[in-house]
Amino acid sequence: MADENQKKLEERTRQAEKNAKDIEEELDKLVKGDLSYVGDPRLDKLLSDNEKLKHRLAVLENAIQAESLGSTQAATKDPKKRPTLITDINSIEGNICLLEELKNLFEIAITSAYPDLKDPPVTISLSGNNPKFGDYQCNSAMPISQLLKAKNIKSNPREVANNILNKTPTSPIIERIEVAGAGFLNIHLNKTVAEHILSCILRFGIKPPPVKRERIVVDFSSPNIAKEMHVGHLRSTIIGESICRILEFLNHDVLRINHLGDWGTQFGMLIAHLQDEFPNFKTESPPISDLQAFYRESKKLFDEDEVFKKRAYACVVQLQSGNPDYVAAWKLICEVSRQEFQKIYDRLDISIIDRGESFYNTRMHVVVKELKELNLLEEDEGRLIMWGSENREGIPLTIVKSDGGYTYDTSDMATIKNRVQEEKGERFIYVTDVGQYGHFVLIEACAKRAGILRNDQKLEHVGFGVVLGEDKKKFKTRSGDTIKLIDLLDEGLKRALDKLVEKGRDKVLTPEELKQAQEAVAYGCIKYADLSHNRINDYIFSFDKMLDDKGNTAVYLLYALTRIRSIARTAQVSVETLVSQVEKSGIKLTHEAEIKLGKVILRFPEVILKVSSDLYLHSLCEYLYEISSAFTEFYDKCYCVEKDKDGKIVKILYDRLMLCEATARVMEKGLDLLGIKTVSKM
Ligand code: ARG
Repeated sequence: MADENQKKLEERTRQAEKNAKDIEEELDKLVKGDLSYVGDPRLDKLLSDNEKLKHRLAVLENAIQAESLGSTQAATKDPKKRPTLITDINSIEGNICLLEELKNLFEIAITSAYPDLKDPPVTISLSGNNPKFGDYQCNSAMPISQLLKAKNIKSNPREVANNILNKTPTSPIIERIEVAGAGFLNIHLNKTVAEHILSCILRFGIKPPPVKRERIVVDFSSPNIAKEMHVGHLRSTIIGESICRILEFLNHDVLRINHLGDWGTQFGMLIAHLQDEFPNFKTESPPISDLQAFYRESKKLFDEDEVFKKRAYACVVQLQSGNPDYVAAWKLICEVSRQEFQKIYDRLDISIIDRGESFYNTRMHVVVKELKELNLLEEDEGRLIMWGSENREGIPLTIVKSDGGYTYDTSDMATIKNRVQEEKGERFIYVTDVGQYGHFVLIEACAKRAGILRNDQKLEHVGFGVVLGEDKKKFKTRSGDTIKLIDLLDEGLKRALDKLVEKGRDKVLTPEELKQAQEAVAYGCIKYADLSHNRINDYIFSFDKMLDDKGNTAVYLLYALTRIRSIARTAQVSVETLVSQVEKSGIKLTHEAEIKLGKVILRFPEVILKVSSDLYLHSLCEYLYEISSAFTEFYDKCYCVEKDKDGKIVKILYDRLMLCEATARVMEKGLDLLGIKTVSKM
């Protein structure tokens, strides 16, 4: 299975590599042969395609690496640094990552079976749906047999698998291991581990798997002042918020930064226009609630009126030299914009700290000076540029424009320096559209050349595709205007209410409950639709699809959760009763559907660790969907409460109610990490 995936990935990588190379060659020819091509929009398109392909390539390469390492970090090769193995089930806490433990066990087995092999692959993956193949598989025997062949040692995968099996330390988490097929090692987990972990979840709640605490800077949302906050920023906001929640759940020290575009030449024209329209702006608050219209007007003047244009430039100079009147005007404009953004953040429950480009003003002077001193800047037609590598490959950063001004590039060099040196960050995450991938690769390369980043450090660009309408074209209103985010959220609210009324929920819920359900469904479905798709791909925004109550949607999961919660309510068994029962006698899994559901729940730490490292949130969504599917199967086959003909409760199966409670807790935590509010009734 993993092998097949690997092949597919490799094939796709080759294809992507080839495409990227073709485009690069094409570009090279064009640029070298025909200078008139510079500035041609087709060149921009090719460049941006090229960036996207390069990005896909990097993603595919990562996937291959992850596939061969297993999804989380592999066990350490140094025997002295090896983690201690579990010897007693009762010592396990509910937050343990079993995959990690299996990797440690097989690492030991493989290195002691084949001590002469350098870095033998330790691949553990999920076994898939058939319980015959166990819960996990170790697929190392095939590649190891190849490695041996290359050393002229005769072997076959089954024999290798048996050798590994013989060297695997006994572990209380494993019931048995079988060699199957071409040399797979099928690992069957011990049921008592599942029972123990489930009882921990009931007694102590959902705890994060232990990891080394890091200081992590997450740059997300980051709209631009006076310009619209568009659907791209909405994606960045939703994805960034969820990433922060997951990292904070793991106890990392997370700095959530809104890198607002609050500096630059556009402020010259905005201030000039403000002076004309509202000369009293310092004493009276001007009614510029529609800042975008105000921006459009000033842009029109700027383009058409030479005198205005000159004044606008003069305003920039005044602003940059700190003239208090101009600074006051600038602040006012930022404030109006910021209040608009806050409306979106409040509705979507986003917390973020503003630290716009202006914050780096003095820091930009410093970094430019340092880069000059390091002789890293080069003159190019009046500009100062910096290459990502010594041999001047690719495109350079523009650090100082020919008019002496700074750029987006300059601000991001100052930004990374601040995040490394002042903020003492250890991970640097940027959530923007895939189009900016090349920019961040270049910033990383230049930061390394300048000694800001160490060679083993990286910038993590969390890229995402564009939002498309149902017609697969750029997302627009029917009349062709760009969609205002507030209007989009309002429409979500309206549609969510329609859906609830359609299902007759307005007749059973109180007005307060109905409102809560409406908001949970509306914002939950918008977030989930975004997060449940692989973020690299473009995604089609469709209220009809996201409000469907079947399939992998927020509505489905929210309903599933309320249904689970209602089971114990109907049985009139309180959570306290369940917990004290667990403390007395633990939890027993007997039916095959119970065991299956229990084993899915155990994987929560594994999923969280994977997502926290690759920052692909759709795996968490898929996992939640898997839990609710396993739950449906369990609930179809196993009744929790037995009633007589008159509907009187005659028997309560407490172990099953405990399993319901554990399921609900994992689902609630998962949804919370995605930024989705749950409701007890809907
Ligand atoms: N304001 C930018 C935009 O709207 C995003 C900023 C991302 N962060 C950064 N450090 N460059 O595209």
